[in-house]
Amino acid sequence: MLPNGADTDIVAHSYDGFPVAKPDEFVTFLRALPELARLAEFTASRPAARAFLEHPKPTPVSYGTEAYFGVAAFLFSNSSGTTRHGRYRFRPGAGVSHLSAADAAKMPEQFLAEELDNRLRRGPVTIHISVQIAADGDPVDDGSRPWPSDRPEIDVGTLSITRIVPADDERQRDLRFIPTNLVDGIAPSADPMLVARTQSYRISADRREAGQ
Ligand code: HEM
Repeated sequence: MLPNGADTDIVAHSYDGFPVAKPDEFVTFLRALPELARLAEFTASRPAARAFLEHPKPTPVSYGTEAYFGVAAFLFSNSSGTTRHGRYRFRPGAGVSHLSAADAAKMPEQFLAEELDNRLRRGPVTIHISVQIAADGDPVDDGSRPWPSDRPEIDVGTLSITRIVPADDERQRDLRFIPTNLVDGIAPSADPMLVARTQSYRISADRREAGQ
């Protein structure tokens, strides 16, 4: 929510990558997921999908101790008109920490929300936001291929979460996060996922608003 009344969204998840690069492949991947044989056939020729499925996804101690990755590249332009492809990276001020599988298995289903509420009673949760800058030749239209970790990062600010806002169902239902809801100086890259996501997120949010 911006001071001028506008709003913009960043959508990021806790894996630095995505199983596929193209929307139609994502449909094939989602349809293959329930069937092991079909999934094995799908991942046989797709290392990114295999890596995504095989990558450990430990449960974080807190939403505030997890790292998040924007995956899709955007075009960032500065005041002197220089434009660079970049990807968002969120790093928790408290550092990344996960539960052991055994401890995670003991936790109640929705423990992260409660944990965050308790954590915020002790002070704000900070998340450092940076933009990783692509080097020439890095894939800017393929979120399934992370860029090498030695790429320069620009620190663009710190998010301080101070409290949970009691939100009734209606308010939560109306929330929508659209990855291409951007502001001047930030533009979508040629990543085909961005168009597909914008359309499908809107459909999903419209259905939610309609109570479907
Ligand atoms: C073509 C590819 C993709 C499709 C079709 C897709 C589809 C969706 C849909 C339908 C939703 C629910 C939106 C809502 O109901 O408000 C969603 C949520 C989400 N997606 Fe994707 N997605 C795609 C790719 C990605 C990628 C690459 C990321 C990586 C960051 C991502 C991260 C998320 C996150 C974090 C949410 C949760 C947003 C929330 O909590 O409201 N998705 N996605």
